[in-house]
Amino acid sequence: MKITITKSDHSRINEIDFDNLQFGRIFSDHMFEMKYEDGKWIQGEIKPYGPITFEPSMMALHYGQAVFEGMKAYYADENTINLFRVKDHHQRLNNSAKRLCMPEIDEEVFITALEELMKADYKWIPKKHGQALYLRPVMFASEEYLAAKVAEEYRFYIITSPVGAYYSEGFNPVKLTTSESYVRAVKGGTGEAKAAGNYGGSFLPAQKAQKEGYTQVLWLDAIEHNYIEEVGTMNIFFLFDGKLVTPQLGGTVLPGITRRSVLSLAKEWGIDVQERKISIREIIETAENGSLKEVFGAGTAAVISPVGLIHHQGKTITLDQEKIGPFAKKMFDTITGIQYGKLNDSHNWVHSVKVG
Ligand code: COI
Repeated sequence: MKITITKSDHSRINEIDFDNLQFGRIFSDHMFEMKYEDGKWIQGEIKPYGPITFEPSMMALHYGQAVFEGMKAYYADENTINLFRVKDHHQRLNNSAKRLCMPEIDEEVFITALEELMKADYKWIPKKHGQALYLRPVMFASEEYLAAKVAEEYRFYIITSPVGAYYSEGFNPVKLTTSESYVRAVKGGTGEAKAAGNYGGSFLPAQKAQKEGYTQVLWLDAIEHNYIEEVGTMNIFFLFDGKLVTPQLGGTVLPGITRRSVLSLAKEWGIDVQERKISIREIIETAENGSLKEVFGAGTAAVISPVGLIHHQGKTITLDQEKIGPFAKKMFDTITGIQYGKLNDSHNWVHSVKVG
């Protein structure tokens, strides 16, 4: 597919305070758009970022066929932008799309669209360590029709936003609570897809948690309400002496790309890595007897976020972490080092784009 490029005639970049970036509040000058009609993707174009017009009968609004990805572009040097694990994000987008009966996107189209967008907006990539250009590919049903059925028309956009830390805590430990009344996902549902509705459904419990002073909900399984799953905005890891444990995937947990990177690196460092069921009881007991050393989350937006406190049914465990723990810090430094091109990328995770 040939991508047409229409450049914005006025850049907003001089209005941006790159020293105070909030997550996802401002958007770069351009976006990518492509349409799906008559069984194929057509009209790929880079154009100025701006409002889009749809009818109130657009199916995504009514039946929730919408999936997205979260990726980041990192400043390597004046002429080089690094994208991280692009093929993995592309694969996950297609997996999410398949789960919601939406069309897949060709890998080459996905990567070319990102590359062209990077070339158009490379000046928007913040230069400081810890900052990046967040990339949000999103696909939704654009057909105008009220029958509850699979749509036949879709749109795919990529918008981008310069960002710093995701949580207002920055890199300070976040506070998590389990929820007694709500669940995020059930086996056979859409929990492992990056479906927009998964997030909407989690907002009420997250809002309640935040009113009680917690940052996010630590989701437990829907059947026994006992096994830890994920945080919704990130996957979760528990470090014991020489052992790193994270909940197994199994259909209800988002297969995080940062999660996968953490697992690979930890294995290479000689750590015993376990993807398995972990009960909340095990975490409370090991926190109390001191064998639980660190807890941290991993996600594209969250990067590596230390967890300082977990609340469950009236019981609170605090982890002895004023700041990020040494293992999480090493993981953060290694992953970001690879992303910014400062460390050797022996896994071929980085896709460099020449710009400028
Ligand atoms: C990401 O980590 O990129 C996410 O999509 C999580 C969140 C911002 C919804």
